[in-house]
Amino acid sequence: MEKPASHLPSAIRAVLFDAYGTLFDVYSVGLAAEQLFPGHGQALSVLWRDKQIEYTGLVTTSNSGAHYQPFWDLTRAGLRYACKRLALDLTTEREEKLMNQYRHLSAFPENLEVLQALKARGIVTGILSNGDPAMLNVAVKSAGLEGLLDHLLSVDGIRKYKTHPDAYALGPQATGLEARQIAFVSCNSWDALAATWYGYQTLWVNRYQLPFEELGTPPVYTGSTLRDVLSLPGLGTPA
Ligand code: LAC
Repeated sequence: MEKPASHLPSAIRAVLFDAYGTLFDVYSVGLAAEQLFPGHGQALSVLWRDKQIEYTGLVTTSNSGAHYQPFWDLTRAGLRYACKRLALDLTTEREEKLMNQYRHLSAFPENLEVLQALKARGIVTGILSNGDPAMLNVAVKSAGLEGLLDHLLSVDGIRKYKTHPDAYALGPQATGLEARQIAFVSCNSWDALAATWYGYQTLWVNRYQLPFEELGTPPVYTGSTLRDVLSLPGLGTPA
């Protein structure tokens, strides 16, 4: 894991994870998409994801949130857009198949042991996600992560998506900790960047060897798998 030379870490008391793309593998829907639309699965899943995230920004920044829709609905809207854009025939049946796939995403294999290790060290754990509570509950259950997460924080209650600071503020509010005492873990570079700006100790998990955002702020730490959470400076040692 790359560590910044000048950073003096505070003790980390809690670890909050982004959900989609970080704990749950969103690109696993590409397999289902490929079955339905041979030759287009990869393009569809990438465009679907990009559009879904673009829509979260759009409804958060426009007209003081008047156009807010839950993440499930934006996910469906993103799928419809992506299919139109790629000229793919999204029948009702195909739409339901893909949305159902999104509901039951695969979890990354190392999640369980990382969460167990954090709990063994007495670290508070949670998800801080754009996902609405129903989506998060099903995903956590499907992945067998119940009981390992102290907080399931959804932005749905405040109707503002990340990267709005009010969304990141849910972490300190729920844990009673300062942002610098919390590690925020995301595979999404835009999320890791905004969480760094907010004041979290961030770990960007760069699973796909992608470049980081070019906006002048690096994440506090960069890793390549979720296991790198366990080597963060300032994290408690095993009991
Ligand atoms: C989330 C999306 C942004 O879980 O990945 O918040």
